[in-house]
Amino acid sequence: MAESRGEEKKKEMFGEQASEDLEREWRGDFCFVQAADTQLGFMSDPTWGAEGDGESWKEEIELAERLVRCCNALRPRPRFVAVCGDLVHALPEGVLGDSPAVRRYANTSRYSRQNADFKRVMAGLEMPLVCVCGNHDVGDRPTPGSLAAYRELYGPDWRAFWCGGMRSLVLNAQLLSDPSGAPDEAQAQEEWLAAELEAVERDQPKHVVVFQHIPWFLREEQEPREGYFNLPQEARVKWLPRMERARVKTIFCGHYHRNLCSRTRSGALEMVVTSAIGRQMSESEVAKNGPDPQQGGVPGSSSDIRSGFRLVSVHESGLFHEYHEFDALETDLGLSTPGPEADGSAEKPQKRSRVENLVDK
Ligand SMILES: [Fe+2]
Repeated sequence: MAESRGEEKKKEMFGEQASEDLEREWRGDFCFVQAADTQLGFMSDPTWGAEGDGESWKEEIELAERLVRCCNALRPRPRFVAVCGDLVHALPEGVLGDSPAVRRYANTSRYSRQNADFKRVMAGLEMPLVCVCGNHDVGDRPTPGSLAAYRELYGPDWRAFWCGGMRSLVLNAQLLSDPSGAPDEAQAQEEWLAAELEAVERDQPKHVVVFQHIPWFLREEQEPREGYFNLPQEARVKWLPRMERARVKTIFCGHYHRNLCSRTRSGALEMVVTSAIGRQMSESEVAKNGPDPQQGGVPGSSSDIRSGFRLVSVHESGLFHEYHEFDALETDLGLSTPGPEADGSAEKPQKRSRVENLVDK
């Protein structure tokens, strides 16, 4: 079972820092980066208002490269980078059955090339990468075939790891959203999750966080299911109280292509939804889950948010986080103008005051 879920790939993507022996103990403040929805191919999808044919993802490659450059330049250095799902836009053909979404997005050639480009760009990170699966990676209704394809590329789709005394749980939210295509896999993940939550409730690590693609809820714990942007209420009722008992502090998500932060009714557990590295969505787009005619042929341009990622500072007293758009962050880091450093002829930027202050607060 472990081998089929890609243990070898796990080592490759996590690097040495995933070692439980090295990372179980709290050793002081650190930071990490949380991003989402690189989604190579979304910006040229004509079904989402683009004028292209879906065969170019140059813009998203450039945005992913900006993520890599910023992460490598940050000081203190982030301990890891988590990308919370929708790594690419295309789905694999022949393993997901038939549905409107599968007919719309399944294209094995694009799926292979987009994933190859994602992995090539992310290989430039100078710290471990934590990949999380989204609906564009394993399908709205995952199957054993789509899960096997993902695991072959990225390793396990649910797992836990330690970093500096913080326990992180990575979930496959698609199996919580619709388990019907892979009920045995969904059951296995739930048994694993129950055991993990019992363990952290017993052992009380300094911090416990969760990474997943679909948020459990957007604004209120008891809100109705909103299209496909939050998880079913029965899943929330089952798991959120257990997470609160286990002292999970923060759940980091993507999927919404917008930023949103909210809390459970008790206030104990924070839901943090982070906007996309790739294509942004406006409020009207998420409301109808379709393209906005206001964007004038430039996908994502009607959104009030620009591409970026969330920088999370982990202190003994708690976690602090802030979304940074690339444009402003690159200015702070001295990366605004591609030039000397792009060809390696200049030293990498050293500490910059604003970012330094952010991660040290
Ligand atoms: Fe997405």
